[in-house]
Formats: sequence, structure tokens, C-alpha cells
Amino acid sequence: MTEVIDGNAVAADIRDGIADRVETLADAGVKPGLATVLMSEDPASETYVSMKQRDCEEVDMKGIHVELDPEAPASELYETIDELNDDDGVHGILVQLPLPDHVDEREVLRRIRPEKDVDGFHPENVGRLVAGNARFKPCTPHGIQRLFAAHDIETEGADAVVVGRSDIVGKPMANLLIQKAPQGNATVTVCHSRTDDLAARTRQADIVIAAAGMPEFIDGSMLQEGATVIDVGINRVESEDGSGTELVGDVEYDSAVEVAGAITPVPGGVGPMTRAMLLYNTLKAASLQTGVDIDLP
Ligand code: GUN
Repeated sequence: MTEVIDGNAVAADIRDGIADRVETLADAGVKPGLATVLMSEDPASETYVSMKQRDCEEVDMKGIHVELDPEAPASELYETIDELNDDDGVHGILVQLPLPDHVDEREVLRRIRPEKDVDGFHPENVGRLVAGNARFKPCTPHGIQRLFAAHDIETEGADAVVVGRSDIVGKPMANLLIQKAPQGNATVTVCHSRTDDLAARTRQADIVIAAAGMPEFIDGSMLQEGATVIDVGINRVESEDGSGTELVGDVEYDSAVEVAGAITPVPGGVGPMTRAMLLYNTLKAASLQTGVDIDLP
């Protein structure tokens, strides 16, 4: 029987642990604060940011939300970041990506104080992660590691294929999987749009992480029997019966579930874990900035 990995359930457990530690911080007079910045009218980005704000409420963190006109000059975004950097009530800052074309994303990520960079995208934090000394692990790969831990999926010695080389998922995922650490010690191949004969590589894999941003790109014929399949994709497509739109992953679920040993659904797999780990990073940021110890797992 294929194990369907319930990301909602694992994320709910993690949020419970976070809520307990938020109380410990409250006893010490600290309320963790997460600022989200949206400079986009993309409906998906709007939804993600509002869910992140709702998550803050659920664990009694302070949510601060700033919306900027997508046509505004980049300087407005820089000024917003500078103000949030200087605000002691803000422990974590997340600028929702992608940004409008006229804004230099690298400059934006460099501008966020590394101690408040709860995405883990600042070059200092990227460097620390690669060196095996992460301050903030990027939320999606960290969440995937937590799914492995919760479901006893062995990564040590496993052949893992990461499909996608983004800075947000593919690169940090590969880096975490090769580390000499729990939920690491895997042998990792990173595939991408220029990879020759992708199926030959994914068929060798004990673990496939699909993060290419392409709807139903990986199907059951590309998988080894019993493989663990982690689907990071969230793609809105026309539904087959023409009645509207639906969400699909990067994996063609119906064929993959027949072959996989374990698989994450879309929605309800990786997505809730990404959001839970953002709360985790915000909690960690608040602890590091205030010096209040909260015994983080
Ligand atoms: N856009 C899509 N995923 C992410 C993420 O994890 N962080 C930010 N800041 N933007 C995103």
C-alpha cells in the first residue's frame, strides 16, 4: 500500500510545538513578529501571504503585512525593508517572490538583515547553509526534511533526485540532503530543464523531489517501484471537465501513486509544511534576537 503523506497533520503537530514556545516567549515579554511584504497583484502570491498571516494568528505571533504598488519604484521597497530591519517588534521579514521586473531581487534579499531573513535567502544565510551551519533553513526543504523524519523515510545512503534547481527549493534541498546530518547523508542528483533523459535518472531514485514548476511533469512510468515521491509543485490548470480550474502538482498523482511507496498529495502535502517552517524560523529569529532560550527541536 502506498503511504500518502499527510502534510496537514505533520504541520499541525509542528504548529502545536511552536504555540507552546510562543507562550514561553510571552512569559519573558517577547511576542514574535513576522512581517510579510507583497509587491504584486498575482492572486497566488496574495493567497500565500494571507495564509502566512493567518498562521501567525493561530500560534499567537504578531503578523505585520505591508502591501506595495507593483508599479512603485524599487526604492519604496528598500525603504520598507529598512524600516522593518530597524523595528524591534519585527523578528522575521519575508518579501514575497516573485517581484516585478524592475526590482532587483538579489538586492532586495541582500537588504534584509540576515538575522531577520526567515526565508534563509540572504547570501550570508545561504553560505551558512552550504557550510553546514544553517541559521535559517529555507522553509520548503526544511519542511520536506520534517516529513522524512515524521514518516521514518530513510535518507542516509538513499539515491535522491531533485528535479528543479531554484534558489528557493532545488538548490537548498540538494544541499541539505548531502549534509552529514539527520535527514541528510543521501547521494543527490540535481536535474533541470536541460537534463538529458530525465526519466532514466528518476527511475534510479529512492527519493524523487519534484520542484520544477511544471504541471504533472513526472508520471508513474518515470519512477522506481516503492520510491518516495515529494511533490513541491502547485500549478493552477484548467480542469479536465472544463468546469473551471484545479490545483495539480509537478507529479501526475494518479499514475505515480500506483508505483510509489510514499507520496505527498497536492494540496495537503508540502504546502502546509512550508508555512509551518516559516513560523519555526520566525520563532527561532525571535529567540536569537532576544536571547530567550526556548529549546527548539
Ligand atoms: N515565493 C514562492 N515561494 C516563496 C518562499 O518560500 N518565500 C518567498 N519569500 N517567496 C516565495
